[in-house]
Amino acid sequence: MSYNLLKGKKGIIFGALNDMSIAWKVAERSYEEGAEFILTNTPVSMRLGSVDELAKKCNTEVVAADATKDSDLENLIKIAMEKYGKLDFVLHSIGMSPNVRKKLPYDQLSYDYYHKTLDISALSFHKVISQLKKHKAMNDWGSIVALSYVAAQRTLYGYNDMADAKSLLESIARSFGYIYGRESRVRINTISQSPTMTTAGSGVKGIDGLMDFTERMSPLGNATALECADYCITMFSDLTKKVTMQNLFHDGGFSSMGMSLRAMTQYNKSLDIEIDE
Ligand SMILES: NC(=O)c1ccc[n+]([C@@H]2O[C@H](COP(=O)([O-])OP(=O)(O)OC[C@H]3O[C@@H](n4cnc5c(N)ncnc54)[C@H](O)[C@@H]3O)[C@@H](O)[C@H]2O)c1
Repeated sequence: MSYNLLKGKKGIIFGALNDMSIAWKVAERSYEEGAEFILTNTPVSMRLGSVDELAKKCNTEVVAADATKDSDLENLIKIAMEKYGKLDFVLHSIGMSPNVRKKLPYDQLSYDYYHKTLDISALSFHKVISQLKKHKAMNDWGSIVALSYVAAQRTLYGYNDMADAKSLLESIARSFGYIYGRESRVRINTISQSPTMTTAGSGVKGIDGLMDFTERMSPLGNATALECADYCITMFSDLTKKVTMQNLFHDGGFSSMGMSLRAMTQYNKSLDIEIDE
């Protein structure tokens, strides 16, 4: 259903790889809500994925940019500003860990890969915001959102150095949120999403079991990519103008739970223990 929440708003959406990507759903929902935006991803992901198809659907273009490279970001912002003038929203939906890809456990990390994880998954957020600010690219009350995960606060087996990247990402939202808010009333937040079956998500060790666990633990169940997109839309809209510097959990309640009946029932089944419901 469309509410015209983003009518007249312009933006940039990073990170749509294929139709499972959270950024893909955000682009579709933003388009439905009346926004205009540029899509961007790395040249390799543009080749391997299907972002061109999304661009056609959303009547827009894809501009190649590696979000770790300042020169790529400058070029992207220049193109976006030539097309739209100032921007109202930006989505950072970027994550990658070479240590996870190479299955190196946290106590045996490659530090070269560790740097890359932090650069791609967290410092890129700082670079995007810095470039936007440098080029005065955001309208007053604009909204910048990045996607995070509860591993920033709590240890989850197998999430590896991405947990450190997410902690840094959330901290950048607070540190830059203060400066950009004070100077230009631009808001910066992270949305901490449930585990979701995407290309990046399927790289997380034991994702099927993890999703089953979080589904059982969350009173509202896991949040889907589409539901995450709906939340992003509200964060881009004028309905959330005073929300900034927050990490916003979008996880069906998982982050506030310790143990649920559904999880306990499952766990006790394997121990052959009966519980009174
Ligand atoms: N899937 C989950 O379980 C889950 C849960 C919480 C948060 N998130 C976060 O959501 C975001 C999007 O991930 P997704 O699950 O949609 O997976 P995805 O694989 O569809 O998206 C990840 C994107 O990052 C892009 N990317 C990688 N390196 C890049 C670079 N150097 N420059 C620009 N883009 C680059 C990839 O091309 C890809 O489009 C990530 O930040 C991820 O950590 C995912």
